[in-house]
Amino acid sequence: MTKFNDLPSDDNSYLFDPKILKDINWENATCTFKNNISIANPGDSLVMRPLRDDDFHQDYLELLGQLTKVGKIEEETFFKRFEEMKECCGTYYIIVIEDLKNNRIIGTSSLIIEHKFIHTAGQRGRIEDVVVDNEFRGKQLGKLLVQALVLVAKKLGVYKISLECKIHNIPFYELFGFKKDEQSFMIQRFEEMY
Ligand SMILES: CC(C)(COP(=O)(O)OP(=O)(O)OC[C@H]1O[C@@H](n2cnc3c(N)ncnc32)[C@H](O)[C@@H]1OP(=O)(O)O)[C@@H](O)C(=O)NCCC(=O)NCCS
Repeated sequence: MTKFNDLPSDDNSYLFDPKILKDINWENATCTFKNNISIANPGDSLVMRPLRDDDFHQDYLELLGQLTKVGKIEEETFFKRFEEMKECCGTYYIIVIEDLKNNRIIGTSSLIIEHKFIHTAGQRGRIEDVVVDNEFRGKQLGKLLVQALVLVAKKLGVYKISLECKIHNIPFYELFGFKKDEQSFMIQRFEEMY
């Protein structure tokens, strides 16, 4: 069982260096955690870590299926997309919580960094694809996943971070300092093509 503190920095199978998670400054956290839950100890047999190139086999896509339509994805496609993300160094931070008892991913969230010219060649962050497995909800894991990435974004020096969510999830995201913006959010969907 690989514990959080033992995640190796030189393991090339991770999407990003696990050290980034270990170096988070939790003093900047805006929410509190019950039951002594922490990044180093998310629960019995659970470990938080970056997405790994073999997570296709740990039910990562099945978990995303609890959030939205995933479609049929072969292992080769998963691996290719993973490698593309990894090559965009400093852009994709996908974290997961694995249940080591069953080798299953039971929680995930993503931080995507946009690299800009504006704001003195600044960076902005987006939180996406937050989901906790049905059986593990209400155990502080969603909070841990989002808080961790908000703090990673802060450490990376983004000038702002945003997300889109359903109205009923607004109170959840307010825990991390997100506020409803008065700007209009516009969208055009091409989903029927896929
Ligand atoms: C939303 C979600 C990620 C929350 O994860 P979770 O592990 O169940 O939540 P946690 O146990 O970490 O924390 C929930 C806390 O937020 C509060 N909360 C507020 N609004 C909430 C909401 N809409 N859903 C869940 N918790 C909410 C809870 O009261 C709880 O407070 P507490 O810590 O004081 O008890 C999870 O319910 C989920 O995967 N939902 C389906 C997918 C989804 O909607 N994802 C978000 C897409 S924008």
